Amino acid sequence: MRAFIAGAGGMLGEALHKVLKSKNKLFCTDIDVNEPWLKYGDFRDFGEYERMVSAFKPDILMHVGAYTDLEYCERHPEETYRTNTLSVEHAATIANAHGIPLVYISTAGIFDGSKEVFDDWDKPNPLGVYARSKYQGELVVQTRVAKHFIFRAGWMMGGGPAKDKKFINKLVKQLETGVDKIHVVDDLFGTPTYTVDFARNLEAMINTPYYGLYNMVCGGETSRLEVAQELVKLLNLENKVAVIPVSSGYFATEYFAPRPPSERLVNYRLNLRGMNLMQDWRAGLKDYLANYFTDHVKSFAPDYRP
Ligand SMILES: NC(=O)c1ccc[n+]([C@@H]2O[C@H](COP(=O)([O-])OP(=O)(O)OC[C@H]3O[C@@H](n4cnc5c(N)ncnc54)[C@H](OP(=O)(O)O)[C@@H]3O)[C@@H](O)[C@H]2O)c1
Repeated sequence: MRAFIAGAGGMLGEALHKVLKSKNKLFCTDIDVNEPWLKYGDFRDFGEYERMVSAFKPDILMHVGAYTDLEYCERHPEETYRTNTLSVEHAATIANAHGIPLVYISTAGIFDGSKEVFDDWDKPNPLGVYARSKYQGELVVQTRVAKHFIFRAGWMMGGGPAKDKKFINKLVKQLETGVDKIHVVDDLFGTPTYTVDFARNLEAMINTPYYGLYNMVCGGETSRLEVAQELVKLLNLENKVAVIPVSSGYFATEYFAPRPPSERLVNYRLNLRGMNLMQDWRAGLKDYLANYFTDHVKSFAPDYRP
């Protein structure tokens, strides 16, 4: 299959490239060209997006990139809607013009936390600018493109030490400085999502005619606190580093964007189809560390055994 992956320079794009490249011919773009396999392409520019897709003639278009920093999105709503929503309109128009399926990546963050666990059919109620921009993207894809896949991810675990913008990577960065304690919130619940598992499940799904919207997160339910505790345990740092539970108010200045108390998903539709290939989050975290951090953690976690 020929796949055009737009916005592939981030955590998930790296895994999609790694997993999909052996059986597929890929064309990957981003505005942040940090890998030799990436070409510059800004999907906000409809003409440029359309020209690049036309030149490659893909069998499928994957619209992956977005602004993912919730605080940045909250401060820059117009730029966020242009990047995260209007660009999805571009992708929909282009996919339709070429008669190809469209893949869109959404987020567990579109829910409001009013339930403990959300399945694929629960009604989203986004709380902040990022979540709203992503939910509007879902609606664009659902209403405009007949052959579409929407895959919702949870707390993404991916990209290794170089991609240090997100939860696990930020924790590793703190541990690297030799601290003897880390503060982690105990009132936010979700489902981690290992990017490589996600990419494998995505590959399996796009080779079926089962179009539609799917929650696609690792198995199990957890909290930010529990993930941090598991990370410290896996790195064999339990005797050196204390994980101190705090409420989200502790980080209110730094993380001021609204977040639902629970954004736990269950892969209900994947389960019904017998297509849920996602591992339990603990197994995903173990694999993530082993595959991306083994060398990196040697200096501060000498007892770590992958
Ligand atoms: N991270 C999570 O926890 C999470 C959870 C659920 C769903 N998702 C969704 O999963 C997808 C992949 O996210 P990720 O975790 O891989 O995020 P990421 O690491 O932030 O990667 C997103 C990539 O998109 C690029 N991008 C931004 N604007 C672009 C534009 N105009 N044209 C082309 N590329 C552009 C970004 O470049 P810059 O770095 O220069 O901005 C970045 O390289 C996104 O749609 C996101 O909303 C993420």
